[in-house]
Amino acid sequence: MSNIILTGFMGSGKSTIGRMLAKRLKSYFLDTDSLIETFENKSITQIFKEEGEEGFREKERYCFEWLRDNVKNSVVSVGGGFPVFIPQIREAGFVIYLKVPFSEIVKRLNKKELSKRPLFQDIKRAKELYEKRDEIYSKLAHLTIENKDIQKTLQEILKAINGT
Ligand code: S3P
Repeated sequence: MSNIILTGFMGSGKSTIGRMLAKRLKSYFLDTDSLIETFENKSITQIFKEEGEEGFREKERYCFEWLRDNVKNSVVSVGGGFPVFIPQIREAGFVIYLKVPFSEIVKRLNKKELSKRPLFQDIKRAKELYEKRDEIYSKLAHLTIENKDIQKTLQEILKAINGT
């Protein structure tokens, strides 16, 4: 099995689905933001503050190369900007876009979750980002799933990968 890569906007449920999927497949779950935080020993917010978005994107690229060259049989959830800045994402595995309407994302993210996301501090700007990225996520994904119900999404993914 090649890696399964979950993409989508901030708050689209990538980590939640990723953890459940990995358990079902008896594989490992990795999250690029957590890998970067561990590697740097800093939070994402801290990295943005000290090195700007540019510095963070460099770390994401390094993380992509590491995943592509070293990781197999795993479920990986990537940060919302990952496919936008790394269009070669398919080289790391089977890419699934978890699509959720922006209005739903706003409802799902509580204050604590919002505070961890430097690019979600202004809702208007976040919505513009969402609209710009939706097309990119769709274009780069092998499969797009409307993530309305976690169990249904999980079933859809399992069905798709069993058929590959
Ligand atoms: C980002 C999304 C975040 C994180 C960083 C930038 C983005 O990850 O990588 O704050 O550009 O959309 P999540 O999608 O897991 O929130």
